[in-house]
Amino acid sequence: MAKDKRYRIAVLPGDGTGPEVVREGLKVLEAAQAKGGFKLDLEHYDLGGERYMKTGDILPESALEELRGFDAIYLGAIGHPDVQPGILEKNLLLRLRFELDQYINLRPVKLYAGVDCPLKDKGPDDIDFVVIRENTEGLYSGMGGFQYKGTPQEVSTQIHMTTRFGAERAIRYAFDLTRKRNKDKQLHLVGKTNVLTFVHDTWWRAFNEVGEADYKDIRREYAHVDATCMWFVKNPEWFDVIVVENMFGDVITDLGAMIQGGMGIAAGGNINPKGVSMFEPIGGSAPKYTNQNVICPLAAIEAGRMMLEHLGEEKAAASVQAAVEKSLASGKIKSLSAGKMGMSTSEVGDYVAGLV
Ligand code: IPM
Ligand code: MN
Repeated sequence: MAKDKRYRIAVLPGDGTGPEVVREGLKVLEAAQAKGGFKLDLEHYDLGGERYMKTGDILPESALEELRGFDAIYLGAIGHPDVQPGILEKNLLLRLRFELDQYINLRPVKLYAGVDCPLKDKGPDDIDFVVIRENTEGLYSGMGGFQYKGTPQEVSTQIHMTTRFGAERAIRYAFDLTRKRNKDKQLHLVGKTNVLTFVHDTWWRAFNEVGEADYKDIRREYAHVDATCMWFVKNPEWFDVIVVENMFGDVITDLGAMIQGGMGIAAGGNINPKGVSMFEPIGGSAPKYTNQNVICPLAAIEAGRMMLEHLGEEKAAASVQAAVEKSLASGKIKSLSAGKMGMSTSEVGDYVAGLV
């Protein structure tokens, strides 16, 4: 018999409820590998707020170098209530995205049957799109600074850095995905061309030039970011795939998470198509629920499913998706909000793993 394919996975449970949801995600991945003919070799890293407070280390060079050698990274959550905001986010999460050149942040927005949607009269048929958020540039570039800090003349700038190269590679990824997805064959560029007339002009031209040259089969649409927020609520069925720069993508994907049932189910992938990609539930560390076994693990399970898909284990990914769908359709999980599931975190993990 052929030997099982093996993948080396770095597991970063992180802070707050991260370790609890990662534990359940791994349970489901284990069930998937048992059936799928492949093996995940896991290596745990204790990077996060606790380690930082104990040792002062956030992301040691040696750990970063090791992480470059994995097939993928499975992340829980970064963010600790006793660490000043920005330190862990910038030096761990964003640093990993930048150093590993994970230039795509892939965020599916899909409402599963059985999940409560806050939008009146909208159902699973209406909410099924994907946001491609550029993940290494824009306002996240870190460029800018203070002048005269702490004085009445204080000046601060935070530069929106866009490169044609960066915009174009995200745009090409989005066109390719739209083609592969084969749903409406429609790609929206989201921006603010009416005000941010430099950076969004670069995006606009790249979008149209690339589309015209190489993706004539894909319909191109454009929406301002403010209008996009309106349409996510009013007409989410209009969207198939969206490509958007970093900061706007951050904002609209939280709104996207809400219309698909909340942070309990929303997952994302930080993708370097030729390098090491990292998969995470997007809800954050939810510190007040730490160690209570009440947080919803479905977002982490979904992140695991995305990781399998990325690794090329499509069949296993589909079986995880089917298990998630079944668990939600059963009505047994009462809500995706922490403490309101009618089941504990580990019971939901057991239940889904049993359905794989
Ligand atoms: C996200 C988060 C991060 C971001 C934070 C934690 C740095 O909000 O993944 O969306 O802004 O990208
Ligand atoms: Mn965010």
